[in-house]
Amino acid sequence: MQTIIEPFRIKSVEPIYFNTAAERKIILEKAFYNPFLIHSTDVLIDLLTDSGTSAMSSNQWAGIMQGDESYAGSPSFFRFEKTIQDITGMPLVIPTHQGRAAEKILFSVLGGKGKYFVSNTLFDTTRANIEFSGAEGIDLVCEAGKHPTVPAPFKGNMDVDALKKFIAEKGSANIPLCILTVTNNSGGGQPVSMQNIKDIKKVCAANNIPLFIDACRFAENAYFIKLREAGYAGKPIPEIVKELFPMPMAVP
Ligand SMILES: Cc1ncc(COP(=O)(O)O)c(C=O)c1O
Repeated sequence: MQTIIEPFRIKSVEPIYFNTAAERKIILEKAFYNPFLIHSTDVLIDLLTDSGTSAMSSNQWAGIMQGDESYAGSPSFFRFEKTIQDITGMPLVIPTHQGRAAEKILFSVLGGKGKYFVSNTLFDTTRANIEFSGAEGIDLVCEAGKHPTVPAPFKGNMDVDALKKFIAEKGSANIPLCILTVTNNSGGGQPVSMQNIKDIKKVCAANNIPLFIDACRFAENAYFIKLREAGYAGKPIPEIVKELFPMPMAVP
């Protein structure tokens, strides 16, 4: 058996409370089996999300000290901006403190009653922000993605025919965005193939619907493309990532 050790040293520890199986049973009952109603101090191993739960590297901690907090024109921002531009090829970068804050801004502008946001699968905060605006979120994940026990390489794909059908039914004017979540987090973190991304881009372009990539795990998705999709084994991850993002629109 191959032993895999983590390639880092953990520098700080935080004590956690070990509760008993009997206590956990009561905690679960009290929360009506809804993990969102459980106090985090009652959780020994938290599998609800990976968001903000990982340990910071020594470089990240050092970065806080080196960061420049000037009110405007901070070099930290320019470094961040350049990194995002290099990765995505997108010219305009607007920082927000968290994904859900970006969603709130986006759907306050684009959402509203009578609008539909189509996706492979919308992440829970994304759906919440869409619905809060009065719009509807539509998940159109491919058939393979609906069968957790059946193995398939790209179960995060969007159903292209279902997308075409939906656009024909509702009219593209009522669909402000098509959103691809890569990897498909609420669909079990399953990856989306480059072929699927290209097919979706084509349908969106033909119908004048902007394609939006919810790119939380773009690096992992690119890695799955490299491992599993024909023609990508020899391609460096940064090139796959650039191919994955939509063509940037001209900066006004
Ligand atoms: C696909 C996806 N979209 C949006 C979010 C929301 O991001 P945040 O937790 O930074 O608000 C997450 C968080 O995990 C996510 O996985």
